[in-house]
Order: sequence, then structure tokens, then C-alpha cells
Amino acid sequence: MCGIVGYVGKKNATPVLMDGLRALEYRGYDSAGIYVAGRGALKRAGKVAVLADSLPDDFEGTLGMAHTRWATHGAPTEQNAHPHSDPTGAVWVVHNGIIENYADLKASFLAEGVTFKSETDTEVLACLIAKAYTDGVLLEDAVSDALAQVRGTYGLVVASSREPEKLVAARASSPVMLGIGDDEYFIASDATPILKHTRDVIYLDDGEIAILTPEGYEVRTHTRTKVEKPVETLEWDVEAAQKKGYEHFMLKEMMEIPEAIENTMRGRLLPGVGTVKLGGLESALPDLLSAKRIMLTGCGSASYAARVGELMIEEFAGLPVEVELGSELRYRRPTMDPKDTVLFAISQSGETLDTIEAIREAKRHGVRVYGVVNVVGSSIARETDAGVYNHAGPEISVASTKAVISQMTVLALIAILLGRANELSQTEGAALIKELERLPDLAREILEKREEIHELAKRYKDTENAFYLGRKFQCPIASEGAIKLKEISYIHAEGYAAGEMKHGPIALIEPSFLSVVLVPEDSMYEKSKSNIQEIRARGGRVLAVTTEGCEDDIRTLADDVIVIPKTHEAFLPILTTIPLQLFAYYVALERGLPIDMPRNLAKSVTVE
Ligand code: AGP
Repeated sequence: MCGIVGYVGKKNATPVLMDGLRALEYRGYDSAGIYVAGRGALKRAGKVAVLADSLPDDFEGTLGMAHTRWATHGAPTEQNAHPHSDPTGAVWVVHNGIIENYADLKASFLAEGVTFKSETDTEVLACLIAKAYTDGVLLEDAVSDALAQVRGTYGLVVASSREPEKLVAARASSPVMLGIGDDEYFIASDATPILKHTRDVIYLDDGEIAILTPEGYEVRTHTRTKVEKPVETLEWDVEAAQKKGYEHFMLKEMMEIPEAIENTMRGRLLPGVGTVKLGGLESALPDLLSAKRIMLTGCGSASYAARVGELMIEEFAGLPVEVELGSELRYRRPTMDPKDTVLFAISQSGETLDTIEAIREAKRHGVRVYGVVNVVGSSIARETDAGVYNHAGPEISVASTKAVISQMTVLALIAILLGRANELSQTEGAALIKELERLPDLAREILEKREEIHELAKRYKDTENAFYLGRKFQCPIASEGAIKLKEISYIHAEGYAAGEMKHGPIALIEPSFLSVVLVPEDSMYEKSKSNIQEIRARGGRVLAVTTEGCEDDIRTLADDVIVIPKTHEAFLPILTTIPLQLFAYYVALERGLPIDMPRNLAKSVTVE
């Protein structure tokens, strides 16, 4: 996600802001920019160092703001970098979030003859504020009036050439905090740019706006009601602040899963007509909706998400679906008829070389290729004909958590879209969407059980071998659970179709061999229960994951049980993955291993 930082005081703002951008680099970004009162703005694609090298020596002032951009609307270019201004340069904005109705707002401005320099929603916001900022109107009032017309999320800072000693900050969903120094004030997305200067902070809440000048600060609501905010003193160091106080990025990113699911679906659900709107696929819809065969490819966790997507598309659209590992598809002689086949490439980083080469092989067959990618402007985003961005925010930890959950969520949206072009009725689509809307809160319920799962991890941390077993929608999650345990705890674990146990693997079962069995209340519940009985009959230990209402039944069979909320069978993989991620995390924690950067692994496998 983007990073914002602002400063007003007696010092030269430029070094304070540039240091602030460096502290925010960990959030992931693709471009950066700075505004200083009296000097204007400077923006560069690429790293903060590129911006720093471009700054003139006299780029100084006592008020300013800066931004690292994680692209959501528009490619990672200098033009799209923040800050953005209205055409007159009266108002400048840096923004973290997504303005859902920016297209309608932009259309109105275009109709008035306004020309835009960028593709961003933020530039539209600057125009909206400038339009409200007529003579005699204070900047903070113009900001409130403009934001009243906006739908979406924002953490933003606004400056103006007309009131050069004032910064205005506002928050709706995207975090904004104020740093209270000695006659100097800071604004930032998190504590990391602030901690070097002060530990006294104020957290803005949604719907609040802050006005900062060298003389002091005020917090109020958009209805001009003054709000007294407590000043808190942070004990964190910078590294802890980057992880929001969590011990590892992996835990922070798991705790972001509910927000990642919300952001993945934001602005894309059309419950009124029982379907979804995927803007990035609009241009491809005729080809996509007429496809008679869907191919999905990816590597690692992305391939397991693809296998969940395969079952979802079969379930909702009745279309034939084939999943192929990127590292395999690129070398096969695949039968791909461009007249009726489309390929989706799933990749968090958008830089996985095996997946990229699979895309290139498909394109050599004339097949249309679409991306499901988290990093805007990445190689896969650029090499595919269209696609869907995850909007899950940067994922720093090598083990994929919120991103693989987001990938499955995107595939659920695609399955509904395809379903509604085939046999899925409006009523059925609406019911599915209603169920999708419950997922963030259901994920929160599971995350609240993390200490219970931690206790289970203490019990199994010395396991040397493990099976992860599931059927149908849970079969890919068995593989996903196994890879999580393998990659961060270094325990040998295999994900298996539970029905396969009797065809050989059950020979391995003995008391020290753990089996993690996914046995939610779904169409395979009774069969999965039988698998638990098979294992227990041979002395194996079983940790079961089941759904509310089945716990008493499963407790009679398994050694330990994790209970999660119920949802539609096709969406259960999105939920059953979460306790498996938590389990792997806490086992690795108990084994004292370097969780965010496991041995031998990289976050993005850009080699063959
Ligand atoms: C997942 O926990 C692993 N880190 C790995 O399997 C990863 O999913 C795989 O390398 C694909 O990465 P991508 O989604 O960036 O293409």
C-alpha cells in the first residue's frame, strides 16, 4: 500500500520528508514524490533514491509532504506518482487508498473541459478539493466538502499554495497518524517516519480531519465538530513499527487477511444483479464469456489457489477447467485452441519466471491470457491481455498468506462472472455474493483463535513428518497447508487427496506421524470422517479442522480440533487456509526459525 508523510515546523522539511520515505520503503512501492511549500512538487518512477538524486539543492521549505506509491489505478510512472494537483496548482494531495467513484467524478470534470495529467483517482480528488476551495473558503472546509462527494478509502494529506503554512489530513479506512513534536508536527501512514522525531502520536479515526500549522494542530469531524484526541507515547522501535508491532511480517499480513479480502472485493460486487464487475477484464469479456475451456496456471501457493478456482468455475459455470503448473505448462505440447480457450496466470509478485514463460507459450498458440496479479505494473500484468489486480497490498513475508487468500477470492469472483454467462441464475449469484460479503468477518473470527492454535503448535512442533489431507474443495488446501509448514518450519509435510491414502500413503502412518485433516461440513464430510478413522485405527495422530456444529462429532475421532465458522462449500477453502497458515507460523515460532526469510527461499522466484 502507499506511504504518506507530512511535516510542518521550523526545520527544512525536505530531509525530514525524504528520511520519512526511506522509512516507508518496506511497505513496497513503485514510485515516489515530494511537495514542499514554495518549491512545488518533484516526482520519479522507481526508488526513493532516484527521487533523492533529482532534488535541486535549494529544494527547501518548512512545510511539505511526500509519498511512496503502490499502484492501484494506473501504471507505476512519473506521471502517476504523487503528489497530484488540480490544473492550477492551488491544491496538492498525497493519498493512500482507493476512490471507488473516481470514474464518475472524472467524467464530470472531463465534461467541464478539465484535462488530466495522470490515470489516478488521486488527481481527481485534487480537482474536487480545488473546486470546493473558492475564495474565502478555508482549505480544511474545502477538503471536507470534497470528501463528502467521495466513496472509497483514503488516508490523505492536502497542501495549498494559498495557505502555505497549513497541512490538512483526513482518514477513511487507510491509517493516518500525527506526530506531536516541539513546535513541529508530522503526518504519516504509520509510526516509522515519525519515531526518529517524536514518540508522541495521535491516531486519526475514520471521518476525522486534522489541521496542522507551525502554531499547533486541531482534530475535528467533517461537520466541523472539534475532537479531543489522546496523545499516546509509542514504545516501538522502527522495525516494530513497520510490522505494526507484530513480531513478524507474516503475522502482520495474516492479520490483514480480512482487510485484504475486503479490498479484493471492493467495488466489484453487484448483488442487485447477482454478478460481479471486474474492470480489468471488461475489454476481454466477449472472448472470456464465450470461452469453452479455461486454463489456469501458477506456481506454488498460486497453483493451489488455481486448483480451488478450477473447482469454483466447474461448480458455478459448468465449464471444463484445466490447471497446469507454470513450470510444466511451459514445456508441454499443450492442446490450446485459441478459438475457445483462455488462460489465467495467477501470481502475487507478477515476476515468477516459470509462470511468465507459461504465458509466453500460451501466446505462441494464440491463446488470450489474463493475469490475476497483486503487483501493479509487474511483468505478468504487462504481458497479459487483461486481468484482475488483487489489491491485497504488499506482501513482504516469503510465505504467502493474505495474497493466496486474495487469489482464491478473485477466482471466486471470476467463477461467478463466468457462471452468470452460463447456467448461474441472478438469484443464485446474489446468494453467493451475500456469502462472499460475510468472509472478512468470518476470517476475523478465525484470527481471534490464534492463541488456541499457538497452543496446538507447541504440542506438534517436534513433528518430523505430516500429511495434510482434504477432499474436493479442501484438496488444494491440503497442499497449501503442507507448503506453509514446509517452507517456514522445515518439517516434511505432504498435501494429499484424502481418498488417496488407501492407495499407498497410509503405509506411513504410525504414532509419530501427524495427519492434519480438513473435514468441514461439506459434501465430503462423511468420507473425510472415514479418513480420520482409518488413520486413528493405525495409531496415527490427527489434528482436524472442522466447522461449527461438527466439533462434538469430530472430537470423538481426532486428537485435536480447530473449529471455524461455516460458509458455502466453494468458499470454505478461503477460510480453512487461515488456521493452517497460523499453525505453520506458530510451529516455526516455537522452533525458533527465521520466519519472514526462510532458508533457501525468495519472495519472488525470478529464475528457472
Ligand atoms: C508461497 O508461500 C510460496 N512463497 C511460493 O509457493 C509462491 O506462492 C510461489 O513462488 C508463486 O509466487 P507468485 O505468486 O509471486 O508467482
